[in-house]
Amino acid sequence: MTLESNPRVGQRRRASFALQVALALIALCVVLTACSSSSSAQTSSNNGSSLRSAVGNWKIGTAVGVKALRGDASFRKVLAQQFNSVTAEDAMKWVSVEPTRGTYDWSDADQIVAFAKAHGQKVRGHNLVWHRQLPKWLTNGNFGAAKLRTLLKRHITTEVSRYKGRIYAWDVVNEPLDDTAGLRGTMWLQKLGKGYIADALRWAHAADPKAKLYLNDYSIEGAGPKSDAMYDLVKSLLAKKVPINGVGFEAHLDLNYGFPSGFEDNLKRFTKLGLEVAITELDVRMTLPATSDDLAQQADYYRNVIAACRAVKGCVGATVWVFADKYSWIPRFFPGEGAADLFDSKLKPKPAYTAVLDELSKTSS
Ligand code: XIL
Repeated sequence: MTLESNPRVGQRRRASFALQVALALIALCVVLTACSSSSSAQTSSNNGSSLRSAVGNWKIGTAVGVKALRGDASFRKVLAQQFNSVTAEDAMKWVSVEPTRGTYDWSDADQIVAFAKAHGQKVRGHNLVWHRQLPKWLTNGNFGAAKLRTLLKRHITTEVSRYKGRIYAWDVVNEPLDDTAGLRGTMWLQKLGKGYIADALRWAHAADPKAKLYLNDYSIEGAGPKSDAMYDLVKSLLAKKVPINGVGFEAHLDLNYGFPSGFEDNLKRFTKLGLEVAITELDVRMTLPATSDDLAQQADYYRNVIAACRAVKGCVGATVWVFADKYSWIPRFFPGEGAADLFDSKLKPKPAYTAVLDELSKTSS
């Protein structure tokens, strides 16, 4: 047997060659002022290009309206570039999916889900039970309790089953609390009693056991009676073993009302119950016209929301409620206010965008 054909010698030679290559690479790195700093520079320049590239698996989402999705190529470009999660702004609400009793129209919702799939984005489902955007046939139907319960169960089962495996989290009951921190006196509460919330969660769970199921509400971001009411509500659902996984904090903020106090601690106390939390509808409106000081303050609000969520282990992501002022719901619902989003009416990034990107990059692991 020659030396060359001895397998042990061959192995040793290959190992020493590998060692030499490794040493040479290390030396090269030192010469090029350290591999670690050049690779972290590369990471931050990736981060510099978009929100989604700064966060990995963490969710940075936006609500999407079908009008913009269909008609605006620049909107689609920013949407695909910046976000890894989408929520249908209106397309999955009851009035959109079953405008006529028994006749479903999934075209808008399907289009959003298809876009998301094509661009590697996850989908949050919004919403199954609410007191608004219900079809007229339902609100004017004057149904008795038993019939209404059947209709609600069928609605939830049909919609959740249709998107089974394609929606990672559902807002099952939207805005169940009123502004005095009681259960909101909706048709659902009045006719079905407070058990409608647990029922809705159970029906959704039966239709897609893997989807995370949420209650979602506004004005529960900071400490206060409404947030306490949500805390008590989810605690009592958990005690009854009702399938609930999370609480959504809408975070429709307004510079006129100040930043919610105790945001981070509040998020944390919900996660201590074993729930996940998410920011689900973030925007920061202001009285128009917006000054550059307003926009700077808005950027701070956005940054603080992202920082609070990133600091809490069970805060799984943040969704903005549409990303551009051009398509915001705010001027329609809060006359005289607006400029609430990350991008302006020409889809140009605002200081708030830079603040969010910076905060995400800072806290990315
Ligand atoms: C809003 C949409 O943005 C509008 O297009 C629609 O006309 C009304 O609803 N809380 C919610 C969202 O949970 O569904 C609402 O979305 C905003 C407030």
